[in-house]
Amino acid sequence: MSDTQVKLYLDREFVIGKTEPRLFGFFVEHLGRCVYGGLYEPGHKFADELGFRKDVIELVKELGVTIIRYPGGNFVSGYRWEDGVGPVEKRPKQLELAWGSIETNHFGLNEFIQWTRRTVVEPLITINLGTRGIDSARSIVEYCNHPSGTYLSDLRIEHGYKEPHNIKVWCLGNEMDGPWQIGHKSAEDYGKLAVESAKVMKWVDPSIELVVCGSSNPYMPTFPQWEATVLDIAYDYVDYISLHIYLGNREDDTMNFLAKVTDMDRYINTVVATCDYVKAKKRSKKTLYLSFDEWNVWFHSREKDKVIEPWSIAPPLLEDVYNFEDAMVVGGMLITLLNHSDRVKIACLAQLVNVIAPIMTENNGPAWRQTIYYPFMYTARYGKGEVLKPIIQCPVFNTKEFSDIPLVDASAVLNEDGELVLFLINKSMELSIPLECVLRGFDKDFYVKKYIVYSSNDPKAGNTKDNPFNIVPREVENYCSITGNTLTIKLEPFSWNAVILAK
Ligand code: AHR
Repeated sequence: MSDTQVKLYLDREFVIGKTEPRLFGFFVEHLGRCVYGGLYEPGHKFADELGFRKDVIELVKELGVTIIRYPGGNFVSGYRWEDGVGPVEKRPKQLELAWGSIETNHFGLNEFIQWTRRTVVEPLITINLGTRGIDSARSIVEYCNHPSGTYLSDLRIEHGYKEPHNIKVWCLGNEMDGPWQIGHKSAEDYGKLAVESAKVMKWVDPSIELVVCGSSNPYMPTFPQWEATVLDIAYDYVDYISLHIYLGNREDDTMNFLAKVTDMDRYINTVVATCDYVKAKKRSKKTLYLSFDEWNVWFHSREKDKVIEPWSIAPPLLEDVYNFEDAMVVGGMLITLLNHSDRVKIACLAQLVNVIAPIMTENNGPAWRQTIYYPFMYTARYGKGEVLKPIIQCPVFNTKEFSDIPLVDASAVLNEDGELVLFLINKSMELSIPLECVLRGFDKDFYVKKYIVYSSNDPKAGNTKDNPFNIVPREVENYCSITGNTLTIKLEPFSWNAVILAK
């Protein structure tokens, strides 16, 4: 084996778990131009009769989005959902304290549900446990999910929605451990409020599934004690615990940035361990699952956002322009999620349009795909199925903050079409890497159906309005071959790859 030779072993029987469709979700918050100017822009030449941008809807469909978390985020902790339903002209305009903007409430719960029907995605609603509590928690479920015959369900019907929205997944607040959060609470206070809210919400509709707030990120000083305390109180009442992480490269150190994906992996392991510790302590038969409902790269826009005019309507906040190294990190984060598919059942890339997003738009102008769009699209398209455990022998590297980071990341999915799909990342900026993959226990021989490579010799290059297809993946031939049960691949330097094998 040469210095850079990588060996990967895949066995048909070594299954980590099955990817839930909900692993390929996104997050839409009333923040900046995500909703206004992103999803919704009445008057735009591509707007439909409800004001939804059809060009954005097309991109959302192409992206393969399955579920969308809404309406926040920090926004939700000061939000009154009632202000966003009923006749638009009667809806109040308000100061929005989380982001210092003006909220017009022209788009609300029912518009969001209609938008999800047009994009064919599942809605996931976050409730306000910052300024509100048990009463509004039960009311919103009754308004959305109760068929009819009560004040709130009949109000929904009066608003034009005869059929219940039937929303299955609900988040019990957002980042309640964070001092920046409106209505921030101690773990004990939050745990008790989450339990009482969960009780009444499930009494209104026993079929719903609930996500309790974990830490805002693994760097919080209260992580993972927050999880242990909250779950001690709320374990029996909830189905998932949330995780959030944003990675960045402010120090402009590409290899260290790529290595940060390890933090996501360790974070998941710690939360799983904490859930299972509480399970054992309670002698519970129930296994708690993870909802990674905010994850992405976020750092480019942080300085610019400090000079945004306060109290504007839909200002250009958090508009990160992504480059190729960001796409490599997002690709690595997706591989991490796949490789934890036994416990991570929901995941939402934050966010969807304009705000730290794969889709960008210009008001009154076009929509385009950022670099991070592509690894997501292909992983969602080909990554639904059984994830196999990748046993990898690979050179490692060290960075300022991390040691022994593998040069190649891998995930393998036996998907619903019987294809074996390999997602591979070569982090080396100089070396093309030969990879040998040994396939064991498969009943038939595979052939290489497709090879998609996404690479750039400029890590800082991206896609813009004027150059929207600057960095795009390409399909290549002769990059790999199969002899017997061995697949041989040459990974381009600094590349994300998807290899689709069919029988
Ligand atoms: O996605 C942007 C913000 O990041 C969300 O509002 C908040 O939940 C997180 O801190």
